[in-house]
Amino acid sequence: MAVPLFDPATPRAPLRDALAEALVRVLDDGRYILGPEVQAFEAEFAAWLGTEHVIGVANGTEAITIALRALGVGPGDEVVVPSFTFYASAEAIPPTGATPVFCDVDPETFLATPESVRAVLTPRTKAVVLVHLFGNVAPVAEVEALGVPVLEDAAQATGSRAGEDLTGTLGTIATFSFYPSKNLGALGDGGAVATRDAALAERVRTLRFHGSPDKETFTDVGYNSRLDEVQAAALRVQLPHVHAWCHGRRAAGRVYEAAGLGEHVRLPVPAAGADPAWGLYVVRHERPEALASALRGAGIGARTYYSVPAHRQPALAEHARGVVLPGTEEAARTHLALPMGPALSEAQVAEVVAAVRAAGL
Ligand SMILES: Cc1ncc(COP(=O)(O)O)c(C=O)c1O
Repeated sequence: MAVPLFDPATPRAPLRDALAEALVRVLDDGRYILGPEVQAFEAEFAAWLGTEHVIGVANGTEAITIALRALGVGPGDEVVVPSFTFYASAEAIPPTGATPVFCDVDPETFLATPESVRAVLTPRTKAVVLVHLFGNVAPVAEVEALGVPVLEDAAQATGSRAGEDLTGTLGTIATFSFYPSKNLGALGDGGAVATRDAALAERVRTLRFHGSPDKETFTDVGYNSRLDEVQAAALRVQLPHVHAWCHGRRAAGRVYEAAGLGEHVRLPVPAAGADPAWGLYVVRHERPEALASALRGAGIGARTYYSVPAHRQPALAEHARGVVLPGTEEAARTHLALPMGPALSEAQVAEVVAAVRAAGL
């Protein structure tokens, strides 16, 4: 049996008719941009999260740029961001005019810590992007207690919890990606910004529509960054299933543990008080590339993601001079993603664990 790294199609298969009906509804309605589906999805996702405002945007990258602009981030400001993350978390900062300042992560959790953030704060720090990487939950309250607003990059963590609260409701503002393989994925690109703050929400709404509050007056140089009606319609069909899908991801994690995966690799470590809905299941091993190639040889999806962390990417080199991040380098050197998804079966997990064991590394 081949086991893919992720499998967006299988969980959606039972929703095929409902998705088709939703797409045809948009087709027949004729309102394709900022119409009733986006409005309804924004209200439904806000209620699902337990927050006040959700604003749909084109993708999770522009969601970060727009949310930072809404916070007032601009030229001369610094924004702290972990380097061990998908490049977009950092890439989204320079378009605001601000400078990304890289902080380290704890290689056990893959998350920034209050200490790693505090180490790089300066009087110019305007915001901190905390990434809930792989579905784990970053210490939002502790970092906000340092006196800086936190933008939660929840792209990989829809449905993860800190205590009773869902990620995306923990800080001043939060962003989501609906890239198809995410915990809540569209049938293409999509993103959202979430906040309890009505004034911030209004700023985001203005910025996503060319910097115009009323489509006639243009108060800001903004963005053309809207969630499409077809994507919103597809997201509405899926939203009621996301908690069950997250349950499936958590269950798959428990099956990996019960099957003895921890005898061969270091298992993911949930942050204190966190209940992660694993967006990606990322273990640690001294020879991740050798293990990945053995697994791929056995028909099992496995890959490293951030072997070259953001601060060592050529495009961000000017912001990384003198930056030394030992935890990031350790995570970059040792991490390996194994198959994960809401429909990953016990038999598939058993096959992955057997292949890890057989690799003998
Ligand atoms: C942590 C993180 N931030 C931001 C993004 C950007 O999201 P998008 O691909 O929707 O632009 C991603 C997407 O993959 C991500 O994983």
